[in-house]
Amino acid sequence: MELDARKPAGAEPAGVERSAGDEIAEAMRRRRMYREFEDRPVPRDVLARMAWAAARGQQARSGVRHLVVVDDPALMTTARQVLPGFINNAPAMIVHCTDLANAERLLGRRGVGAATRIDAGAACAHLALMAQTLGLGVCTVTSWTDAAVQELLGLPRHIRPDVTVAVGYVPASPPPAARGFVHRLHLNSFGTAFEGNGFEVRAPSTNGAA
Ligand SMILES: Cc1cc2nc3c(=O)[nH]c(=O)nc-3n(C[C@H](O)[C@H](O)[C@H](O)COP(=O)(O)O)c2cc1C
Repeated sequence: MELDARKPAGAEPAGVERSAGDEIAEAMRRRRMYREFEDRPVPRDVLARMAWAAARGQQARSGVRHLVVVDDPALMTTARQVLPGFINNAPAMIVHCTDLANAERLLGRRGVGAATRIDAGAACAHLALMAQTLGLGVCTVTSWTDAAVQELLGLPRHIRPDVTVAVGYVPASPPPAARGFVHRLHLNSFGTAFEGNGFEVRAPSTNGAA
């Protein structure tokens, strides 16, 4: 069983008003990455709202997460030069970082390896949703070396960059979103299809590829 998450999660019956929950579900459905942005800066108060959303992402322990908001045009230009995966013209980015010393003290080695990565993913999810409420788009970028981001932002050695999230205003006609990302759903045991969850599902391809 494959799930195409870009399909609507089910229309509400006629006469039923859309709820805040419907709006959130629709924002989840519309979520996508952008690599082309309008050529205008994102005001600081708007970036502050984005940073707030990232900070509200769940986290395993307090005192581990750092967020660096970057909107200096010169720094953004350098980011494009030294971060190979940063293939976009965003005027700003939000960088989620982990305090490795505090993480190891509070969470142990496994916490550093797993929990803090989950923290970063949660922040990214919030950013992608909040962006839509502000007319913004984001792109999650991790294809770079820690050393390059540390040098770029002057991060101390114990502060590990987890993810750089490009932020900018979405153009009127953005290129189409990526397609073909499907997910397998299982019920109770791996290989038993989970049916009837209200999502549009697609038959597996004949060669079994996702
Ligand atoms: C953990 C993670 C790392 C990613 N790294 C990069 C990256 O280095 N550069 C980039 O342009 N996009 C990057 N992306 C964006 C993915 O390529 C994108 O999510 C994928 O094309 C699916 O598109 P969608 O999010 O619009 O559905 C990354 C996404 C995730 C979740």
